Amino acid sequence: MSDDELRDELLTLLFAGHETTATALTWAFHWLHRTPAVRDRLLEELLTLPEPADPDAIARLPYLSAVVNEVLRIYPVAMLMFPRRVEAAVTLGGYAFHPGDVLLVCIQALHERADLYPEPLRFNPDRFLGRSYGSHEFLSFGAGSRRCIGAALAVYEMKLILASLLRGFQFRLTPASDRPNHPRRRGFTLGPTVPVCLQVVSAQR
Ligand code: HEM
Repeated sequence: MSDDELRDELLTLLFAGHETTATALTWAFHWLHRTPAVRDRLLEELLTLPEPADPDAIARLPYLSAVVNEVLRIYPVAMLMFPRRVEAAVTLGGYAFHPGDVLLVCIQALHERADLYPEPLRFNPDRFLGRSYGSHEFLSFGAGSRRCIGAALAVYEMKLILASLLRGFQFRLTPASDRPNHPRRRGFTLGPTVPVCLQVVSAQR
């Protein structure tokens, strides 16, 4: 690669990886503090690990994994996958598409299908403990050959940051943030309408 190409690749990773992961973490803190039973159960799991905890052991924790998946399901950071152009005639769900047609998959609509995710508007990490979802059912990172290249890094980052902050400190939402919050468009991504602000109540240990 030329220096210009290398710079473009690095900038893409920075732009695609920064706001997306930060927004997902913001939602994680929103949901954990709006559903204390989930936060308490997660903390109980986190405290089974010794201090300092091995990062890979953190990443393997089942309830933490379920929480991260549910955060990414309920309010996907990207509402849409990138567009796909049809190359050869195809029929999908009874609709015929022709070469040149452009398809856009709505991640949020899929994640709100009650046949896949019962009570889809409820934050319920348990749904990810009971069953596993296929790559056509859980689309937070898109699918196929253009699936997000940073998915594994983003999930790893989210788990380590949640684990270190929750193991280290007790938080509460500030009164202005402690209310229902909904996604709104921020350019290509979706983020909280109400800023999610936390106060440190005390050190956890
Ligand atoms: C929670 C965090 C993230 C979410 C929700 C997310 C979501 C997505 C989605 C939905 C796509 C489109 C995939 C498709 O159309 O099939 C995408 C593409 C992409 N993401 Fe992420 N992403 C995240 C973090 C990251 C990180 C950390 C990086 C890099 C370090 C990254 C780099 C990219 C790149 C380069 C693409 C384009 C891939 C291609 O076109 O081949 N993303 N991401």
